[in-house]
Amino acid sequence: MSKIIAIGNQKGGVGKTTTAVNIAAALVRRGKKVLGIDLDPQANMSEYLGYDYSTLYSISHLMITAANNDLSDEVIAQSIVHNAEGIDYIPSNIQLASADLFLSNVMCREQILKRILKRETFDQYDVIIIDCLPSLGILLTNALAAADGLIIPVQAQKFALDGLVQLEQVYQMVKLNVNPDLNIEGVILTMYDNTNMSKAVETALEAKYGSALYVTRIHRRIEATNSTYEQKSLVSYKNSFLGTEYISVTDEFIERSLV
Ligand SMILES: Nc1ncnc2c1ncn2[C@@H]1O[C@H](COP(=O)(O)OP(=O)(O)OP(=O)(O)O)[C@@H](O)[C@H]1O
Ligand SMILES: [Mg+2]
Repeated sequence: MSKIIAIGNQKGGVGKTTTAVNIAAALVRRGKKVLGIDLDPQANMSEYLGYDYSTLYSISHLMITAANNDLSDEVIAQSIVHNAEGIDYIPSNIQLASADLFLSNVMCREQILKRILKRETFDQYDVIIIDCLPSLGILLTNALAAADGLIIPVQAQKFALDGLVQLEQVYQMVKLNVNPDLNIEGVILTMYDNTNMSKAVETALEAKYGSALYVTRIHRRIEATNSTYEQKSLVSYKNSFLGTEYISVTDEFIERSLV
């Protein structure tokens, strides 16, 4: 059985996609078979992983088809891309922005992604990583309903903790109503630097999350932006500072969750 992890925080630009891609890349390095799911209509994960619009289908197509009870293994196979670094992923596109509409009259609409990932094809993966969009809507609830764990990247910036209460409310709602096994897998402090602000956020997160906060800090470095631009994970670079940090946080994840 695969372990399904949602990377979520409704706050924009906190490092969700960077974290999703680089944990995926580090897991591949550790010999795991990994599937990324781009659940953001902005399709940043797809782009970062080098998507060239080669597949027939995207995640929105799978969700529409599953909502109509019409999903075949063939359609799933034709939605999975094999990336140069060994990461498989299902791409997204702007069509996903209308998920609210295409799911509005569907029964159990928050469980469509879960229904998709229950298919046998997905058993081949050790870990499935869902890159969530910055919102608390139906796509996030789908990710949380399908997931075993939620990883929350938090940017070491002013107002970083605002909004975590709402995120936790959604998490609790999903846990209570549709997915009792859901857990907060961990919290990652991102874009950490040598400022008092960073320190203050760190102290607050330590108090709030205790051991759920990963020990590894992801520092603020320009190489993050270069990596997205070059469509190569930080982990794949030789001597990458952030690549080393992402490998280290992934090792914490592996140790904790025993994948
Ligand atoms: N450790 C880092 N240091 C410096 N810049 C970073 C770091 N991590 C990510 N970035 C940059 O910050 C921006 C936002 O990162 P990213 O896209 O991963 O965030 P996100 O939470 O997925 O955003 P969104 O909410 O829009 O999906 C990107 O330009 C990225 O390259
Ligand atoms: Mg993103």
